[in-house]
Amino acid sequence: MKSEPWWKEAVVYQIYPRSFFDSNGDGEGDLNGITAKLDYIKNLGVDAIWLSPFYTSPNKDGGYDVANPRDVDPRFGNLADAKTLIARAHELKLRVIADIVPNHFSDQHEWFQAALKSGRGSAERNRFHFYDGNPDGTPPNNWISLFGGPAWTQVEDGQFYLHLFDSTQPDLNWENPEVHADFEKTLRFWLDLGIDGFRIDVAHGLVKEDIHKNHPNPQGLSEALRLDFEMDVQERNALLLSVPFFDRQGVHEIYRQWRKLFDSYKDREVMAVAEAWVHPPENATRYVRPDELHQVFNFDLLTAPFDAQSLFGVINRSIQLNSSVGALPTWALSNHDSPRVASRIGDSESRALALFVFALPGSAYVFAGQELGLPDGELQDSDRQDPMFIRTQGETKGRDGARVPLPWSGDTTPFGFTTGKPWLPINQTWQKLTVESEQADPQSSLNFYRETLALRAEHLINAGEVHWIESPLHGKRSSDLLVFKRGDVTVAMNLSEKPQEVRIEGRVIMLSSGSLDSTNGKILIPAHSSIWSLN
Ligand code: NOJ
Repeated sequence: MKSEPWWKEAVVYQIYPRSFFDSNGDGEGDLNGITAKLDYIKNLGVDAIWLSPFYTSPNKDGGYDVANPRDVDPRFGNLADAKTLIARAHELKLRVIADIVPNHFSDQHEWFQAALKSGRGSAERNRFHFYDGNPDGTPPNNWISLFGGPAWTQVEDGQFYLHLFDSTQPDLNWENPEVHADFEKTLRFWLDLGIDGFRIDVAHGLVKEDIHKNHPNPQGLSEALRLDFEMDVQERNALLLSVPFFDRQGVHEIYRQWRKLFDSYKDREVMAVAEAWVHPPENATRYVRPDELHQVFNFDLLTAPFDAQSLFGVINRSIQLNSSVGALPTWALSNHDSPRVASRIGDSESRALALFVFALPGSAYVFAGQELGLPDGELQDSDRQDPMFIRTQGETKGRDGARVPLPWSGDTTPFGFTTGKPWLPINQTWQKLTVESEQADPQSSLNFYRETLALRAEHLINAGEVHWIESPLHGKRSSDLLVFKRGDVTVAMNLSEKPQEVRIEGRVIMLSSGSLDSTNGKILIPAHSSIWSLN
């Protein structure tokens, strides 16, 4: 029997290198720090790691401002360290996914520096989006940066360049074949070094249309584009539909070319996952058509409230949409761009949700620290470094809270993360959340993740479709209970604040929190908790 590709139901552990583990005492995590902790990662029971960017960068946007995509930033180490990391990961049978950032470069990239020195209309400027302003001196259009403020910055000779993010992140012109060729070179560079896949940053943003037109609602656009999740979801989605630089047809041609390149590596199954915030949700499935990418992130769980109606809607829709193109969904509860799930919905709620989604078909992404139940760090405004905070003059707090370094050991901050001063302060209250402390506590979040992932590997890989037993499709009790069966496992989540009785067959093998009361086939699930029961 032919086995399924490794990525189909893989659990992928996302590492934000700067915040993971510092091996040299400079206060920032690095590649050798990751290598030193690969045994810890392997013991969690995950299949792969995804590394957020570690490339040469002035670090104006946490490394998503790449100055040389084919080298390692000295703060993280060097290429030899990257090779060692990949080799050790492979020894442990962990796949390695790298980030690729094709929408923009850093303004420190040699191409942009050359563009600044060359005049209007030059081949160097044509790699980016350089235009003259309007006769009244205003920028070519009224587009807004996702980090706040205008999406255009003027250079000395009066021309403007486009940047959907920070002004230090000029957008690349994907109509220029040189850009295609350079990215293919970068993909090959990392594949030749042994990488198994890519997470594609802003995968929906590469192609721009109507660059000479104003958007009719720049204020709305600005609010919709901020990733601060405060806007009503419906309203934001409606506005996203109107964005002339997202989700254009041309992006799919790029991924079809990349797919051929990936498939030409016959010695491994290269995979790619798209970061694509698109609307309507049906559009996301275009990125995973058979000749394009392998996975697309489903971001809806990052914002969905902890109620049965919303969660059922998000989960069921994602399963159905993906299956319409023969793909499997992805599930992520946290990442480096959004509030940590424990802070957003609560401790026991986030464990309940994790247990629930780990039983679903598809691939699950775990943001480093999520396994510890880490909340967002508490920061002073003076600590914040996110360009989103800076460009909105503090109106949006930004994403630093989720990026506070991991606590590893000991009783006092910086909890073994570094021997120096951590780049963001680590809360003094995290003594019980260190890896060391959680390892010793059988009830800890860490041990819960380990046990869950071991049981997932045993019972839930290739376990077939989801059969809903209790859901909003099933009448009145469904308001605070979701139950489905997949393979031999029945999964139930109690979303209410009271214990709830369920009648399910089998033996309970996993409980997310609290204690279970079960007699004569009746099971009382604690408040805000989930169970797995094996038939
Ligand atoms: C998405 C990344 O996840 C985020 O961290 C970054 O700021 C933007 N893309 C720009 O690259």
